[in-house]
Amino acid sequence: MTHSIVIAVDGTAASGKGTLAKRLARHFGFPHLDSGALYRLTALAVLEVKGDPKDPDTAVKGARAIDLNRAGDPKIRSDVVGKAASDVAAIPAVRAALLDFQRNFLLHPPGGSDGAVMDGRDIGTVICPDAAAKLFVDAEPAIRAHRRWLELQGLGLTRDESAVLAEINARDQADRTRPVSPLVQAADAALLDTTHLDIDAAFAAALALVEPKVERALKARPRG
Ligand code: CDP
Repeated sequence: MTHSIVIAVDGTAASGKGTLAKRLARHFGFPHLDSGALYRLTALAVLEVKGDPKDPDTAVKGARAIDLNRAGDPKIRSDVVGKAASDVAAIPAVRAALLDFQRNFLLHPPGGSDGAVMDGRDIGTVICPDAAAKLFVDAEPAIRAHRRWLELQGLGLTRDESAVLAEINARDQADRTRPVSPLVQAADAALLDTTHLDIDAAFAAALALVEPKVERALKARPRG
C-alpha cells in the first residue's frame, strides 16, 4: 500500500499502546495518530446530540462531523465515551467513514516524514497490513485497570477502580468479538506484555522489537 514506513501499534484497552506509540514516534521523528481518538470523537459527537451510539445513521453522521481539534479534550477519555466509542466502532459504515483519513495519514505522513506511527485495534490487520513493524501490546487486566484509574484521576475524573476494570474487560470482550475489524493480534505482530514493565522498560522492549524492522525498511526504500 505504501512506501512510507509504518509502525502499527495495536492492543487491548489501557495496555499502554498510546504512550508507547507516542514515544516511538518521537524517537523516529515520525508523526503519530491515535486512531482510538477518532472513534472517541465520533462517540462524543453522537452523545452531544443525545443520539444512540448503536444507531448506524447517527453514528456515521458523528464520524463525518468529528472535530480533530478536540482530540486533546479530557471529555473523550471518560468511560462513558469509551463505551460509546466501542459501540460506534462496531458499525461497519463508521469504520468505512474513518478509513480514508487513517490510510491517507499513513500514505502521506504529515510534514513529508518518512514514516508514521498509528495505534488502535486494527492498524496492523486492516488499516495497514503491510506495515514495516507491528506491535500487539497487552497486560493483565488488573494492571491495565490500575493504570487507567491513575490516568483518569490525573484528568480529574474520579472513578472506582473496580468499575474501571469492569469497563475495560467489557470493552475488550466487545472489541474482540465484533464481526468487523475485531481486536486480534496480526500473525506478524510482535507481542509485548507490559504487565511487569514500567513505561521506560516497555519503551526499551518496544524499541528493540521495532528498530531493526524500521532500519531494514529505511534501507529497502526506493530512492528518489
Ligand atoms: O485508550 P483505550 O485503549 O482504552 O481505547 P482507545 O484506543 O481510545 O479506543 C476506544 C475504542 O475505540 C476501543 O474500545 C475500540 O472499540 C475502538 N477502536 C477501534 O475499534 N479501532 C481502532 N483502530 C481504535 C479504537
